[in-house]
This record gives sequence, C-alpha cells and structure tokens, in this order.
Amino acid sequence: SIKGFIFDLDGVLTDTAEYHYRAWKRLADELGIPFTREENEALRGIPRRESLLLLLKGRTFPEATLNELMERKNSYYLEYIREISPRDVLPGARELLSEIRAAGLKAALGSASKNAREVIERLGIAGLLDAVADGYSVTRQKPAPDLFLHAAALLGLAPAECVVVEDAAAGVEAALAGGFTVIGIGPHERVGKAHVVLPNLAGARLADLLARLPMHA
Ligand code: BG6
Ligand code: MG
Repeated sequence: SIKGFIFDLDGVLTDTAEYHYRAWKRLADELGIPFTREENEALRGIPRRESLLLLLKGRTFPEATLNELMERKNSYYLEYIREISPRDVLPGARELLSEIRAAGLKAALGSASKNAREVIERLGIAGLLDAVADGYSVTRQKPAPDLFLHAAALLGLAPAECVVVEDAAAGVEAALAGGFTVIGIGPHERVGKAHVVLPNLAGARLADLLARLPMHA
C-alpha cells in the first residue's frame, strides 16, 4: 500500500520554469545564441549541465568555460528566485502536503535542482517535507531512477510504497524505471506515460488521488 509521496519541485510544487528561462535567455543573449521559450520547455527536468549543452546547440567550449557559463546562469537564477515567497506555492500543493502529513503518510522532495533547498525554504514548505533529495544527492540524474530511489530510502520506504509526482518526461521515465507509481502533471504529450495524469494539483485531494492509482500487489 502507499505510504509516501515524492514530489518533484520545479513545475510541480512551484513554477520556476519562468526563472530558469529568464536566466538561460540572458546567458544566450550574451553569447549571441538564439533561445526561445519553446526551447526552454525542452529543458524541463533536465540538469544544469545538459541544459547548457542543449542551449549551446553543438558549439564547443573548454571545460573551464562551460563551468563559468553554468555559474553565470545560476547567479542569474539565484537573483530571480529571491522573489520567491509562500505565495508562489502552486494551487493545491500546500493543501496536499498537509493532508499527507495529517494522514500519517510521508513526503519527500525529489528534485534535480541544486537550488531546491533554498526554493523550499523561500516557499515555506520545508517543514512539510520529511526528506530532501536534490541535485547534490546522486550522480546519475533523471531519467535514471537513482534520485527517486534515494528519496524513498531516506523515507525508509520501498518504491512500490511511494507515489512520485512529476511534470517532466525525464522524471516520469525515471520514476517508472524505479518501480514507482507515477502521477504526471501536465499535458499527455509530456507525461502521458504516468499512471495518472492531472493538469495541475489544484483541488487534488489525497483520498481522490489514492483512489485513482492502479492497484499494487
Ligand atoms: C530541474 C529543472 O528541476 O532542475 C531544470 O526542471 C533545471 O530546468 C534542473 O535545469 C537543475 O536545476 P539547478 O537549479 O541545479 O540548475
Ligand atoms: Mg519538474
């Protein structure tokens, strides 16, 4: 039976895609590389380094330059996320986290971001999470299942006892690979492989979600 939830952060609990976009766009402009919002969509759930390589579209740079570009993008991102406050928790997310706690279930964060701790502190939801797995936790990033397996281990639960909530195709793939039940947030084209697909968490009540999950042995 389900004993815990593992939440992705960006795009599930808060919408940081816009801040990532602005930071990448500023870097791309400085480099004279075209970069659109549509291209930014493809970076959803993709770690910082892979995102940079995609943005560079085949241009090559020495390792030291790549590191400088990643640091520059992150400094812009950190500048933008200073605006984040409890108002930026997406509709339904805080309520769902509270319900999970009240029901005696566990909740963990499973985010590829190295800024995840800062973001959950600013959102004021750190206290509703029993464990945090972030961009520092594992080497192999999504779509490898490692991050979610790590989060489940921190909760002391088996994958079959956990539901992963994800908005990125790579994240859904990672969770399925790890043997988790998956709720996909967003359009079918992106998260259609998840067991349950929702447009967002607005109005998502714990009992309804659990009732919609496929039965597990
Ligand atoms: C994911 C975001 O959560 O974290 C990606 O969806 C981002 O857009 C990735 O690239 C890594 O984040 P950060 O904060 O470590 O650069
Ligand atoms: Mg995400």
